[in-house]
Amino acid sequence: MTSEIKLQDLDPEKFIGEKVNEIKTAVGDGIAINALSGGVDSSVVTMLGHRALGNRLRSVFIQNGLMREGEAERVECLFNKLGVKIEVIDAKKEFLDALAGITDPEKKREAITQTFYKKVFGRIVRESGARFLLQGTILTDIDETVAGIKRQHNVFAQLGIDPHKAFGYQILEPLIQLRKDGVRSIGKALGLPEELFARIPFPGPALAARIIGEVTEEKLIVVRKATSVVERILAGRGAFQFMAILHDDRVTGMRDGKRDFGRQIEVRCWDSVDARTATPTRLSFDILEYLASELIEKVPGVVSVTYNIATKPPSTIEAV
Ligand code: XMP
Repeated sequence: MTSEIKLQDLDPEKFIGEKVNEIKTAVGDGIAINALSGGVDSSVVTMLGHRALGNRLRSVFIQNGLMREGEAERVECLFNKLGVKIEVIDAKKEFLDALAGITDPEKKREAITQTFYKKVFGRIVRESGARFLLQGTILTDIDETVAGIKRQHNVFAQLGIDPHKAFGYQILEPLIQLRKDGVRSIGKALGLPEELFARIPFPGPALAARIIGEVTEEKLIVVRKATSVVERILAGRGAFQFMAILHDDRVTGMRDGKRDFGRQIEVRCWDSVDARTATPTRLSFDILEYLASELIEKVPGVVSVTYNIATKPPSTIEAV
């Protein structure tokens, strides 16, 4: 059982010192690979790993084709400013091939996990001679996986999977005792800019967690564009997380006086402290109407926009 460190019991400087030492001890004079997605958790791990190992840490951003608009460039630029070099690795085709034809949510998550850890990181680790992968698993990822609610893409030991046997390397998880609020306070103490440590959470399976049914390039283009619109409109309003979900079913609409059998976007916006429970944000109807008109105007093919008003539970934050 992993013991939780609650925000009120967390001493950021002490925690940082301990984790930096643990990483140094584990890796010795070898090198480690660091999986940076640009989300809050992996950004914090990147800074811890950088403090512990300096240029013996290779931070890689996997361009899996499931990321938000401009994400690779943004993350690379932000970390370069912090003195951390990022390698962007193009693995788009591998992920899209692995996801082709899969509609079941858990099978999609499994395809992403295998492609990340076995194929892509397996190859990088083998080629580099590293024995360790650093990643930002947090306690909430484990809870839901162990409870059988959702297989979070980055949980292994708690499911009885030994990463060394399964993939050929060990995984270091310095944030495993924290929840999102604790991770943010460590990010702040590490000197990350607010746009990184206060960023809304983004899931490891990325936009694939927001596409119902099969993940295709065409659907990715729609959900990526819709995500940009939703993030632009809902940023800075204090919500915990907000997103666009692309439905699989089409509905009849009208465009330019003609029938348009089009796409449906569901907007979700959550109030939450640690993602364990969440309630929909009470957005004003003016904002909801603005979301609808912008999504319909800016995202080709969208004719219907809905707002999710269910709580977690029974809903979950992401749709897949
Ligand atoms: P759910 O959808 O399970 O999400 O209510 C709870 C929080 O976790 C994020 N999430 C993930 N994060 N790997 C991650 O690193 C995953 O597989 C994953 N699935 C969901 C989600 O965005 C929310 O903040």
